[in-house]
Amino acid sequence: MTDSVSFTIQPGGHLKGEVRVPGDKSMSHRSIMLGSLAEGITHVSGFLNAEDAISTLEAFRAMGVQIEGPVKGEVTIHGVGKHGLKAPTQPLYLGNSGTSMRLLAGLLAGQSFDSILTGDPSLSGRPMRRVTEPLALMGAKISTQAKGTAPLHIQGTSNLSGIDYVMPIASAQVKSCLLLAGMYAQGETRVTEPAPTRDHTERMLAGFGYPVQRVGSQAIINSQGKLTATMIDVPSDISSAAFFLVGASITPNSDVTLQHVGINPTRTGIIDILRLMGANIEVLNAREVGGEPVADLRVRSSQLTGIRIPTELVPLAIDEFPVLFVAAACAQGETVLTGAEELRVKESDRIQVMADGLQILGIDAQPTTDGMVIQGGQIGGGVVQSHGDHRIAMAFSIAGLRANATITVENCANVNTSFPEFRYLAQQLGLHLTAS
Ligand code: S3P
Repeated sequence: MTDSVSFTIQPGGHLKGEVRVPGDKSMSHRSIMLGSLAEGITHVSGFLNAEDAISTLEAFRAMGVQIEGPVKGEVTIHGVGKHGLKAPTQPLYLGNSGTSMRLLAGLLAGQSFDSILTGDPSLSGRPMRRVTEPLALMGAKISTQAKGTAPLHIQGTSNLSGIDYVMPIASAQVKSCLLLAGMYAQGETRVTEPAPTRDHTERMLAGFGYPVQRVGSQAIINSQGKLTATMIDVPSDISSAAFFLVGASITPNSDVTLQHVGINPTRTGIIDILRLMGANIEVLNAREVGGEPVADLRVRSSQLTGIRIPTELVPLAIDEFPVLFVAAACAQGETVLTGAEELRVKESDRIQVMADGLQILGIDAQPTTDGMVIQGGQIGGGVVQSHGDHRIAMAFSIAGLRANATITVENCANVNTSFPEFRYLAQQLGLHLTAS
């Protein structure tokens, strides 16, 4: 991908103020999917107007769903009902978005038409067998490339059958894919997760009136339900808030309040890990909005200390490790992460890419097969690569707060996949960032 946007961060600065970061990406995807399959008109507010969520929105438009917006986070979806989607006339291009591809694979497997899912070079290199194999057990007909990657060619069928599937990896995308396929399968589909993962699909299905049972680590669905249009208020994305949670923690004289952040307990690993390191984070005005817990988060500077990150927190903070590695680089002593091999198959190999960049900035960061060992130290200046991965670009930008020389982060256009306002909000709070 040609990507000439670079971020340059001058040393110094601290973070102060109150901001609302954009809407949750996971919920924004799901609001379009379920709103499209619902009967009636669904209104979404707080929708994330960023490339990944728009990929999902455009895919549903291409399948005949009338969708208005997003305008200032407002989206109106004219639901077509569970069996109302139309065959797309072209392959559905999903850009960089793994969530769009994996969830759509399940949803489209049981349709009466065929479809093809494609993506950008990063998405086209990511593993898809984790969804196509269990879907095949349900009777789905999906072909991948030789390495189990996209494009996915999906032959729609009305003959899906429920399965009882124990996931080998803790993945909300796999769980959600199978639950969506289960809405079209004969009998019950049961999905068991080896560790808790984000449960937005289950919560939102319930919000649309579609029965999903949850028994311990198992989610159970069948084809008997229907989705009834509703109102969805998408809270701010804790995965975007995470950059400022870390930024304010590591920088003396910082005090930031992040408004209306989703604090679903399957997403709050970042708060737990930072608190174990000694961070000062207050959860204020905790409330429930549309079936999801929400709060304002106030974070102030503190001296962080290195820890062994508890492995059970890994799936609950899975998207936050790039910036957590920066927190570890600023902590006193050693931080050890294990049990996080999934990071190697995200938008980039986040273990290797972060270790390489931290080393360039003078930090002792040793990658392991399933994590990293980081010694806290003085961050220096240098030129680092984001490898087109939005969260890597933002994590290294935050590192600039504690650097003693200029950091340049190359390849930052992909920040637009999840957090297009990042640079403006970061500047507003006090980060000395310029884009060129
Ligand atoms: C997501 C689940 C996570 C996460 C991704 C979004 C989702 O992936 O990394 O950014 O919306 O379900 P896995 O479930 O593959 O860990």
